[in-house]
Amino acid sequence: MIREMHAAIFDLDGVIVDTAKYHYLAWKRLANEMGFDFTETDNERLKGVSRTRSLEILLEIGGSTIDDAAKAKLADQKNSWYVDYISHMDVSEPLPGAAEYLQCIRAKNVKIALGSASKNAPLILERIGISSLFDAIVDGNKVSKAKPDPEVFLRAAEELNIAPTECVVFEDAEAGIEAAHRAGMSAVGIGNANVLKDAEIIIPGLFAFPITLPSE
Ligand code: BG6
Ligand code: MG
Repeated sequence: MIREMHAAIFDLDGVIVDTAKYHYLAWKRLANEMGFDFTETDNERLKGVSRTRSLEILLEIGGSTIDDAAKAKLADQKNSWYVDYISHMDVSEPLPGAAEYLQCIRAKNVKIALGSASKNAPLILERIGISSLFDAIVDGNKVSKAKPDPEVFLRAAEELNIAPTECVVFEDAEAGIEAAHRAGMSAVGIGNANVLKDAEIIIPGLFAFPITLPSE
């Protein structure tokens, strides 16, 4: 059961915005330049995975073995294409109901944080016009351990100055639900009920406005 929500911590990709399509374009371009294909099905394996690990998976798919210096160069190249794509994002990009849900809970004094693996999160929030709705932003620049490690959510609770047990995490990935639970937080799963079965509540998107707020 969801406990009272004094703070909400949101994953970014797949919860607030669909950036997977831009990651896909950039990874595909890299794979094609290296002489192999990279499909949308392959891209599913990269959701919620760090940039470095994503590159390793891509290289496995292409059957390519390279040293760490070459890997760093390729990761930088992919990121510069990805940044080009996301720099063109605008206020039409938040997923249905996302901006409205954040505004609604903010008006009811719920603290809001971002808990994302992406090092580009601040740029994305700025481009889609919702940076000002966040009290804290914890992204891939601030943490070193990937979900399901709870580091990103514990750091967000700390920055909000709210006890983990009073935080609710919104996540679209199984590893994110596990990270929330390991942080002592409740979790709302966004998306596929089979994948997210361990979440306290599962909804198709933030448009479903799932939570009874403390003031209601
Ligand atoms: C996660 C995405 O949020 O961030 C992954 O789901 C991505 O696909 C990861 O690899 C890191 O993102 P970035 O922007 O730092 O390369
Ligand atoms: Mg996600």
